[in-house]
Amino acid sequence: DRRALFVHACENGDVHALSDEVSGLVATRPGLTAHYCYRSPSERDKAKQRFHSEGMISRDVLQRLLPIDDYDFYLCGPPPLMQAIYAMLRALGVPKLRIAYEFFGPSTVLEPDAFRTSAVVAQPARIVPTDEATTVEFRKSALKAIWDGSAASLLDFAEDHGLKPEFSCRSGICGTCKSRLVSGDVAYFEEPLDELGAGEVLLCCSRPSGSIVLDI
Ligand code: FES
Repeated sequence: DRRALFVHACENGDVHALSDEVSGLVATRPGLTAHYCYRSPSERDKAKQRFHSEGMISRDVLQRLLPIDDYDFYLCGPPPLMQAIYAMLRALGVPKLRIAYEFFGPSTVLEPDAFRTSAVVAQPARIVPTDEATTVEFRKSALKAIWDGSAASLLDFAEDHGLKPEFSCRSGICGTCKSRLVSGDVAYFEEPLDELGAGEVLLCCSRPSGSIVLDI
């Protein structure tokens, strides 16, 4: 009879994993409730009232959902989300021992100071400028642009140029952003969870190592 609140944050209803399954459990398990937080709900999400809050999971949202009581927290998600929620819970006075977690992806340390140290170590080599500019060509989109190193990933770069590649986790886990590399090579700043086939690339966790051509 333990009460449990399941909080799920994602982009919108189109990429909301296991929503039917969770809603089914909520309907049949006494004491279980769910809260869905969509960063960018679609018009369909709004019409169907598929979510409970909009934006990111904030301190306000957590305090509204969790009246003063004694809780255990179980976190799971990509590193930036985990770090943000962990820091938020600690700031709310939740003891470390009451927070359990499991990462999507690399076991980045949650403590901010330790994270800064590991982030420096894990920082990939920047693209070394050469006489010839590094370019990224999106062949199917008939678009070619100079990679100046300011985008965090090829996915960000594509979006910065108006393209909308498919994505979900943005951390090398789900494979949704998998694309075909026509030529060139990429470097991963987060290792993909699954092995990729020849000529496949995950846009969300890679950067070009020199000029490349993508089949998108
Ligand atoms: S969006 Fe999930 S692996 Fe890239």
